Amino acid sequence: MACDRRTILRAGATALALAAAPAFAGGAWAQDAKMPVAVIGGGNIGGTIGGLWVKAGHPVMFASRHPEDLKPLVEKLGPLAKAGTVEQALAFGGAVLIAVPYKAYPELGKTYGASLKGKVVLDAGNATKARDGDLAAEAESAGIGATSAKYLAGARLVRAFNAANYRLFAQNAHRSGPAMAVPVAGDDKQALDVAATLVRDAGFEPVVVGGLDAARQFQMGAPNYGRDVTAPEARKAFGVAE
Ligand SMILES: NC(=O)c1ccc[n+]([C@@H]2O[C@H](COP(=O)([O-])OP(=O)(O)OC[C@H]3O[C@@H](n4cnc5c(N)ncnc54)[C@H](OP(=O)(O)O)[C@@H]3O)[C@@H](O)[C@H]2O)c1
Repeated sequence: MACDRRTILRAGATALALAAAPAFAGGAWAQDAKMPVAVIGGGNIGGTIGGLWVKAGHPVMFASRHPEDLKPLVEKLGPLAKAGTVEQALAFGGAVLIAVPYKAYPELGKTYGASLKGKVVLDAGNATKARDGDLAAEAESAGIGATSAKYLAGARLVRAFNAANYRLFAQNAHRSGPAMAVPVAGDDKQALDVAATLVRDAGFEPVVVGGLDAARQFQMGAPNYGRDVTAPEARKAFGVAE
């Protein structure tokens, strides 16, 4: 059979893409392959948590409006880290961490709604009046989970990594002794499972507080926000069983 140059090039490109993509079998990532993650926002929290995933072996694409500014971050993290546009990162990631100022959510949801639909999204955003204006009042009255679900409609949302300062995450990841708890909340069981794996891979212990509405309990300003506690201590504080 004749095999022209274009066919050979196409076959080569497919082989390269397959080599770069971790194996996906039967609805789960093969045991030895780490899920690629998109981190939207490569600042304090995105850079910190995304960096922990890279160290754990996850391919991570960081994205922002200015991906060229993320070059120093990805160079420091090594070959598993890449920088790209938001669209590129959403296509790359099996799961997504949203780590941008909350005021960007409405626009993000409008522009990338189609790509976010059906995606497992870990939502680390907090709304503050000074930075995010009226969204802070909305998150306060409707709850941060419902507010994120409104703006990122269609995403399989899990609230995660919002409840502590990035420096605390950086200091406590994979610490010796009992792990630091990371409260998570979401309505989608499979998405919660993916988030729990990613929380563990980053070096923490996930504590499922409940459905998306339960994210109120650890949103900014709530008593369980900003606490450096172990998983048993967190379960006790939230009143949830193991
Ligand atoms: N800092 C913390 O310790 C901490 C802890 C927990 C949760 N959080 C929450 O995490 C979010 C991020 O906080 P941060 O402190 O990491 O902020 P940050 O350091 O200012 O970083 C924000 C990142 O988001 C990008 N960005 C902003 N608007 C964007 C848009 N419309 N589309 C795509 N990328 C955009 C920025 O890059 P460009 O401007 O170049 O686009 C930057 O890379 C906030 O909601 C915050 O409340 C923060």
